[in-house]
Amino acid sequence: MAMHLAYGSRNAARSAGSRLLASTALRTRAPTPVPVSARAFATTPAARLHVPAPPESPLAPLGVAAALAREATEAPQPKIFAEFALTDRVALVSGGNRGLGLEMALALAEAGARAVYCVDLPAMPGTEWEAVHEYVGAMGGGRRLEYMSADVRDQEAMWEVGEQIAEKEGRMDVCVAAAGILKAHTDCLEYPAEQFREVLDVNTSGVLFTAQAAGRQMQRFGNGGSIILIASMSGSITNKDHAWVSYNSSKSAVLQMARSMACELGPRNIRVNSLSPGHIKTTMTAAYLDQQPELLDKWSSLNPLGRIGRPDELRGVVTWLASDASSFCTGSDILVSGGHHSW
Ligand SMILES: NC(=O)c1ccc[n+]([C@@H]2O[C@H](COP(=O)([O-])OP(=O)(O)OC[C@H]3O[C@@H](n4cnc5c(N)ncnc54)[C@H](O)[C@@H]3O)[C@@H](O)[C@H]2O)c1
Repeated sequence: MAMHLAYGSRNAARSAGSRLLASTALRTRAPTPVPVSARAFATTPAARLHVPAPPESPLAPLGVAAALAREATEAPQPKIFAEFALTDRVALVSGGNRGLGLEMALALAEAGARAVYCVDLPAMPGTEWEAVHEYVGAMGGGRRLEYMSADVRDQEAMWEVGEQIAEKEGRMDVCVAAAGILKAHTDCLEYPAEQFREVLDVNTSGVLFTAQAAGRQMQRFGNGGSIILIASMSGSITNKDHAWVSYNSSKSAVLQMARSMACELGPRNIRVNSLSPGHIKTTMTAAYLDQQPELLDKWSSLNPLGRIGRPDELRGVVTWLASDASSFCTGSDILVSGGHHSW
């Protein structure tokens, strides 16, 4: 497995990293099933008697309660942006070398995350990532963008990525599983087995292994967390005139994965949601748009806003899902598609 910490972290990590890698604590353990707490699925009347009250927000009093609790002489304090803050949090973003992954990694850093680890295939990050890395460093406030090379299809490698981040940072709060691939049109009746498996391997198994990598560490630290699985509107609709049976199937699986994981991990205070973008121009979709420019008009005409989206139009939603502003949201699919589904 190739694994590489980028420039921002390399020096600090070199000494710590060599110690960490030598330690048996960091050896990747063979995947073992996590015991499911009986309490997690308790439905008996006795169990229901012990339903806890909702926890208080760390920013309490909030909203109307804050207005009611205010002393006449006190100046009201707006808190809405504080609810979106990711101050001191640590995140893992797969597919973070470019495209939507990199855009969302930057948003998390801007929201105050201490360290955002971008995990992607190339041994070294690209020039776009380097520019964003420098931008985040120059922003100050102790923010860091880090780079690690790993293949999301490799479960052991991904678990080790999670362990290394946790060892170095002492926490794990947010996961964005954004690595994905899309193939050329292929007739569904002729679809080759190997190509079908390849897409599901990255887009479905890889998303699970990424969520596991972060989720195992969230469980270990016991502070909860937020896992965001990047699906697609193609998980719940079929893109008109596109023969993408593998991609669409892989994304449908991610929608159900989010619901299923949310139900298992809710009692551990780990939230899991999926985020489903519509058409946005990135390297992935440029493979189509650059070859067939007429697709821009067609894709734009398929939603009520009459245009495709920009990568930066996911900044708000990913920050909301990652932060305490969405603390009661789990098991949901958030569609950001310009209304593509509404027609
Ligand atoms: N662009 C869109 O219109 C759109 C719409 C809906 C959903 N999505 C989803 O958003 C996510 C990001 O897509 P994008 O548009 O930024 O595409 P992109 O091709 O620009 O980025 C995908 C990233 O995933 C990485 N990756 C691929 N296979 C990997 C592997 N095995 N291990 C680790 N990293 C791997 C790539 O190297 C790349 O950096 C994907 O899951 C995609 O399906 C994109």
